[in-house]
Order: sequence, then C-alpha cells, then structure tokens
Amino acid sequence: MSASYDPKLAAALGPAALQAAVDAALAQITDAGDLEALKAARLAHASDRSPLALANREIGTLPPAAKADAGKRVGEARRAVNDALARRQAELEAERDAHVLAEERVDVTLPWPHTPRGARHPLTSLMERIADLFVAMGYEVADGPEVETEWANFDALNMGPDHPARSMQDTFFVDPPEAGLVLRTHTSPVQARTLLERKPPVYVVCPGRVFRTDELDATHTPVFHQVEGLVVDEGITMAHLKGTLDHFAAAMFGAGVVTRLRPSYFPFTEPSAELDLLCFVCRGASVGDASRPCRTCSSEGWIEWGGCGMVNPRVLIACGIDPERYSGFAFGVGVERALMFRHGAKDMRDMVEGDVRFSLPFGLEV
Ligand code: PHE
Repeated sequence: MSASYDPKLAAALGPAALQAAVDAALAQITDAGDLEALKAARLAHASDRSPLALANREIGTLPPAAKADAGKRVGEARRAVNDALARRQAELEAERDAHVLAEERVDVTLPWPHTPRGARHPLTSLMERIADLFVAMGYEVADGPEVETEWANFDALNMGPDHPARSMQDTFFVDPPEAGLVLRTHTSPVQARTLLERKPPVYVVCPGRVFRTDELDATHTPVFHQVEGLVVDEGITMAHLKGTLDHFAAAMFGAGVVTRLRPSYFPFTEPSAELDLLCFVCRGASVGDASRPCRTCSSEGWIEWGGCGMVNPRVLIACGIDPERYSGFAFGVGVERALMFRHGAKDMRDMVEGDVRFSLPFGLEV
C-alpha cells in the first residue's frame, strides 16, 4: 500500500461500508409509500451526493491494483440500489394509476337529470321556412289578429252581411255578438289590413292560425294554419300568380311537383281558382281505374292545397286603392296540408295533440 493511501477513504469502499449503504438505501426505498417519498430516497441514495456516488469517486484515488476490485463492488452496490429504485418506481406508478382509475371512474349507467330540450313544432318551422322563401323573393311578412273584426274577415273581402259566402265558412263568433268579433276563419283579413296600411307596390306573405267550427278528426281540426300571399302592383296578371305558386310548390315539394288552377269562386278574388297538386302517390293513375284506388287523393288524381285568384277590384276600392292603376293576386294555402304532403303525416290529430313522439322525427330545431 502506498503512503498516499488514506485508510478512511478505503473504509468507505470496503464491503461492509458498501453493504451498509445498500441496506440503508433498500430500506428507504421499500418504505417509500408514494412517488414523493421515493424521490427523496433517490436523492439520498442515488444522486451525485449519495454515499455510493462519493464512494465511486474515491475509486480514482486507489492504487491501480485495488481499482478493479473496488470498482466492481461499488458498481454492484449501485446497480442493486438503482434496480430497487426502478422496481419500486414501477410499483408506485401502477398503484397511482389504479387509484386514479378508481377515483375518476364514471358510471355510465347512472340516471342523469333528463331534461330534454324543447323544440319548435314542425308546423311552426314549416311556416318559418315558407316565410323565408317569400322574403327571399322580396316579400314582407305581415301579421294580423286572431280575434278579428267581422268587417276585416268578411265585409272588406266583399262578403256583406247578406252574402251567402258569409256562411260558407263555419265561424266562431265571439261574445257579445254586437261586438262584431270572430275568430278569423282565414288569413285573408290580413289582405284588407295590409291594403289599408300600405300603399302599392305591396308584396306580403302572412302565415297564421285560423279557426273553424270543425270537429277534430283525421282530416279536420278547428284550429289550423294558413299562409296568405298578397301582391298589388301595376301590371300584375294571373301569369304572375301561376308562376309564383309554381315556384312555391316546387320549393315545398320538389321540382317534379305538378300544379293546376281549377276555376272556383271566392268573393274577394275575380277570377278565382283552387290550387291543386297532382297526387304524389298515384300521380293521377288512379283516376277511372277502379283496380288501383288511391286513398291519398280519393282517386281524383289531384289534391287541393288552397285557394287563389286576382284581387277583386271591389276589395281594392274598399281599401282606397285605384283599381284602374293597380291589380293584384292573392292566395291562401293550408300549412297542415303542406306538412302532410311533405312528410307523409297522415292524421291531423297528431299535429295538434303536442305529443313529442310526433314532433321528434322532425328534429330539435329551436
Ligand atoms: N281565404 C280562402 C280560404 O281560406 C283562400 C283564399 C285566399 C282564396 C286568397 C283566394 C285568395 O279558403
């Protein structure tokens, strides 16, 4: 042994000292209950300042003959400590992960506070869609009261008190009778209101609720909806009416839809017509063919969608508009019928009962 050899340092490299360092390290590592504690153990026993690191550094001071032996011992000791650290690290991480999984578990079978979002009724959405269609063509949306004056509902529309057409529609009269109020039987009174309020050119559309004394059944309801259209301008002809209705029908039911104007009578339009659509189901094939009856159109080939015509000059006069200068057209179509044709809804009652099982397939439009 050389004179420079320090026996104290040599002691730190001796098997007993190394074993003691390893034992102390393993004890602290085993005791470490969580990753924090293990970090402390790593700092104490495997960092640059740990006894084993210091021992390792001292190898350099040994005489060459002793270096290999000491190096092997220190290396084994450090490996033992590092292996133990790695094992415990893995154990503690697994424990932590298991804990987190248990803590953060979500029981997807638990009931949740089930408050479904409300949504528009399909009739409301459809009326908005119709209004949008006309707004896109430059129309304005007009409005009128549901409790209407008899004057606007009848008189202004060329149905005087003795006019037989006054009883054509089954009217709800509002008490007392002298008040002259009814639940509007159609959206046409909005024609009169509009023409009293605005001067031509007039392009308005009015979706709204109307009332008639019908019993509720598969094809009737005492409360239903119409969309009224009214145009008054210079040079308006029946061709404008037909073109507008064709565009409307195609937008509602698809480009292949076929329309027909069937001569009819309304006191407030002249000439007047019913607006029919070629039956979507049989496309007219059931007409006169008893072997192929069609329930949708009662084998008539056509389905009535609404009424229309050229605004009667008497209505223009009643509203202070010069019929020599202006002419116009008007139409009124059923919204329930449009919903039936568009979506195959078969029973009116489904539309008024408010059962979400009917509305849900139309989507939750809000
Ligand atoms: N108001 C009529 C009805 O409800 C329909 C209609 C509107 C007819 C506009 C002509 C013009 O039956």
